Amino acid sequence: MTTLVDQYGRSIRYVRLSVTDRCDLRCFYCMPRGFRDFEEPDHWLSFDEIERVIRAFTELGTRMVRITGGEPLVRKDLPRLATRLAALPQLEDLSLSTNATRLARHAEELRAAGIRRINVSLDTLRPERFREITGGKLEKVLDGLMAAREAGLSPVKINMVVMKGVNDDEVEDMVEFCLEHGFTLRFIETMPMGDTGRNALDYYLPLQRVRERLARRYSLIPAHMAGGGPARYELIEGTELRLGFITPMSRHFCDSCNRVRLSVDGTLYMCLGQEHSYPLRPLLRDGCSDAELRQALCEAINLKPRKHEFNERPEQVVRFMSMTGG
Ligand code: GTP
Ligand code: 5AD
Ligand code: SF4
Repeated sequence: MTTLVDQYGRSIRYVRLSVTDRCDLRCFYCMPRGFRDFEEPDHWLSFDEIERVIRAFTELGTRMVRITGGEPLVRKDLPRLATRLAALPQLEDLSLSTNATRLARHAEELRAAGIRRINVSLDTLRPERFREITGGKLEKVLDGLMAAREAGLSPVKINMVVMKGVNDDEVEDMVEFCLEHGFTLRFIETMPMGDTGRNALDYYLPLQRVRERLARRYSLIPAHMAGGGPARYELIEGTELRLGFITPMSRHFCDSCNRVRLSVDGTLYMCLGQEHSYPLRPLLRDGCSDAELRQALCEAINLKPRKHEFNERPEQVVRFMSMTGG
């Protein structure tokens, strides 16, 4: 069987599928307030088209799919799509990244649809600060998290973008919160995605500093955690809590990159930090055969760059994080 291996020998086994570029929040490092320039509905891949592309990926060796956005739960009937993807015979892991504002309503349904595990963005536990960072209500996210736990979604990983002078004073509180509720906690460095991301570099904090601070308080031992992403994990000794460190800026992980991104308009982005892309929508709408579709995916993978250039060329990425979903 042909499998997807790029020019640098990396096997592509993980597809991040963005089902919408819309979001009900406006995290200041991600999307500008008042932003409305969203993709036209005519350009959204339909559920049939998405399923077809993901099936082709699985025929070429992809085993993991993560549904992202924007905020994926903004897309109508998302659990229906999840059910269809979960039924693909070769797919081993179907997961979701969400801001959790709508999770209280959908957690049960998502679990029933075949989503086993979720990752949730949450940068602060203080309602006022939550409003400042995202423009939204913290309470809904907390309700969503509890509903996820109740529904048996596991693990629930919390993603916290740690920013100097914004929320870095909450790292310990977040650890305690995750200990109490049985969530995994991952810290993320800010990346210069779009103007919003570049502005947020003023608050950039290398995660080594966070780790050193935590190591003074807790005993950290290297650990493993199921998942396919770039986090490096450590366990707090004597607990079940794993801490994940996602360090695109201070220590990149591109040599072991295993992923590509499909955006809502059917463009395949080869790298989060580069513009290399391949448009699949025209092919799909011109009635291409399955073999042609697989051929296109193989060609696209050849375009995958070796690494991002967030440090060397921070002006490089013009799209916002919300377009390709983290
Ligand atoms: P797991 O399978 O649970 O390990 O998922 P994940 O960590 O890959 O997915 P998630 O959506 O939770 O990603 C968390 C964050 O990690 C994203 O929002 C990005 O900030 C960052 N990230 C994920 N993948 C990449 C990548 O390929 N490159 C870079 N630079 N950052 C990434
Ligand atoms: N830098 C790092 N992470 C970002 N995210 C959005 N914008 C940025 C950025 N500029 C992450 C948020 C969220 C995920 C969807 O994308 O942490 O968890
Ligand atoms: Fe892969 Fe690009 Fe992310 Fe590096 S920045 S890990 S090459 S997607």
